Amino acid sequence: MSSSPDKSVLSTTLRTDTCGLLRRSDVGRVVRLGGWVHRSRDLGGLVFIDLRDRAGLVQLAFGPAWSSPDVQALAAAVGVESVVLCEGEVVARETDRVNPDMGTGEVEVRVTALTVVGPAVTPALPVARGRGDKMPAEELRLRHRYLDLRRPELQDNLVLRHRLLQVSRRFLSDHGYLELETPILTKPTPEGARDYLVPSRVHPGEFYALPQSPQIYKQLFMCCGFDRYFQIARCFRDEDLRADRQPEFTQIDIEASFIEREDILVLAEGLIGTMWREAGRPDVPAHFERMSYADAMEFYGCDRPDLRYDLKLRDFSGVFAGLDFAVTSNALAGGGRVRGLVVPGGAAWSRKHVDELEAVAKSAGANGLLRLRRADGVYDGPVAKFLSAEATAAMALNDGDLALMVAAPDRISSPALDRVRQECARRLDLVDDRIQRFLWVVDFPMFEQDPVTGTLAAVHHPFTAPHPDDMAAFPNDPARWRALAYDAVLNGTELGGGSIRTSDPAMQSRMFSLLGIGDEAEQERRFGFLLEGLRAGAPPHGGIAFGFDRIAMLLSGAPSLRDVIAFPKTTAARSLYEGAPVAVPADDLEELHIAVRGTVADGAPRE
Ligand code: AMO
Repeated sequence: MSSSPDKSVLSTTLRTDTCGLLRRSDVGRVVRLGGWVHRSRDLGGLVFIDLRDRAGLVQLAFGPAWSSPDVQALAAAVGVESVVLCEGEVVARETDRVNPDMGTGEVEVRVTALTVVGPAVTPALPVARGRGDKMPAEELRLRHRYLDLRRPELQDNLVLRHRLLQVSRRFLSDHGYLELETPILTKPTPEGARDYLVPSRVHPGEFYALPQSPQIYKQLFMCCGFDRYFQIARCFRDEDLRADRQPEFTQIDIEASFIEREDILVLAEGLIGTMWREAGRPDVPAHFERMSYADAMEFYGCDRPDLRYDLKLRDFSGVFAGLDFAVTSNALAGGGRVRGLVVPGGAAWSRKHVDELEAVAKSAGANGLLRLRRADGVYDGPVAKFLSAEATAAMALNDGDLALMVAAPDRISSPALDRVRQECARRLDLVDDRIQRFLWVVDFPMFEQDPVTGTLAAVHHPFTAPHPDDMAAFPNDPARWRALAYDAVLNGTELGGGSIRTSDPAMQSRMFSLLGIGDEAEQERRFGFLLEGLRAGAPPHGGIAFGFDRIAMLLSGAPSLRDVIAFPKTTAARSLYEGAPVAVPADDLEELHIAVRGTVADGAPRE
């Protein structure tokens, strides 16, 4: 993939052309090139070098008929990954030496002048890789990122990233959205993760927070009348990392005024379609399917279901009601249910296989996984003997089916069955990577209630508006309120999320109270700048933020966010290339009025 503008734009005083763009039509031209020695072959009389730049590779040929002995000797000696400048004539390759795998495979450059301008030490890991060569360990690649980023695969990912950003900017700008910046040194905004804090030198004991998202600022823009905002925003969250999370990541952040949910969803569908088309994936529906949060949890056990395969969850509580079987009767008596999925053909799975699935359920918090299978008309499994003929009939299993069930409250069975469902789909080879199932999950609950303490926490964030119907129906039971929040999901990955906001300051204040920030002074101290903005006249507004790194990862086919971020952190939140974070000398800490307990005894930087 290339994102090269017109060829002529890339020429400079040192080079006339880029390596990767030379074609048959250039034959006969004398060109000056600059690039990295990708690989070289010394065939005695002839030396060949594959020279690489961002646009690709071209073969340089050195031979006695056109290169001086000095040039030939230099070509034979130059080390891989060194930077050279050269001059020579573009010639057509003989038919039997044409390389159809290379964009420049029909030509080569017969070099007459060569200078090594950037000699390279022996690289710590290879940049040029042959087919089937094993990739060096990721830790080594991250440590030597300056070399790893030379690999064409990673360069392609970053080029795609650039293109996706360009089309997003153009799309949003064409829709009247202004690209506005918000501060990086800010005050904590609650997005559910811990903040990265930055000490203030001039205000002892006080700290800035790096933004978890520009949420409050974008709402203030709406109060100011910038009725359509977007930003390619860097966000910082100190949270437990996974393959699809980085402590520092990029959002395409959007907010608009005088809108309702529908306006944001339609805009977002247009933006996604634009990015997908840019990446060569035109197969995006104009409008995405929709599913309520309640249905997503009921039928898939999670709020970002992968719809590429079926295996829906079912409620078997009725079948087990009144049965003298402690596991299910205790769960039902405790307000739980018996839920599960039916795997066609699963009756043939070995015991070991099903035990492994039980281990998956247990690792997600379930006590176990009940199994019942029907093979040759016979039901079998630990629960079979407790089930009457009517009960087994009510299970509606076909011959060859395996039912896998969890008897527990939903908050336990949902995550366990979600994991089991995904694992079954993987084992049945039901996950088709060519299929894209875009989905809006809507009507999230407003709050999550702690089962023990009863305290409420915002599911999305405290600025989301509750559903007006629910506020009217259950004014004194906020735990039952749904929120005007929505998530964009693709094949089980959350691409983005947003909501309609609370624009009434009294309502916003009530939301803070419900979340345990009841004290007015405390509300003013933490969120006064938002409340003041709302009190000064706020339009109805709402928005969304897309996780841009996730989108770039999906569209480039990369297995990890680290492959689409130039200088990423490890899962331990370390940056291996520059070696961050680091301890700082005692003097620096002193100046920041900070004393570190335990870890840095003498102020010397730690390894
Ligand atoms: P939310 O917290 O849902 O919403 O974040 C929006 C999207 O950002 C991506 N994302 C991440 N990507 C990589 N690494 C992470 N650690 C990470 N955390 C989140 C996800 C997610 O869907 N202010 C609200 C948006 C709004 O209400 O408008 C917000 O930040 O793809």
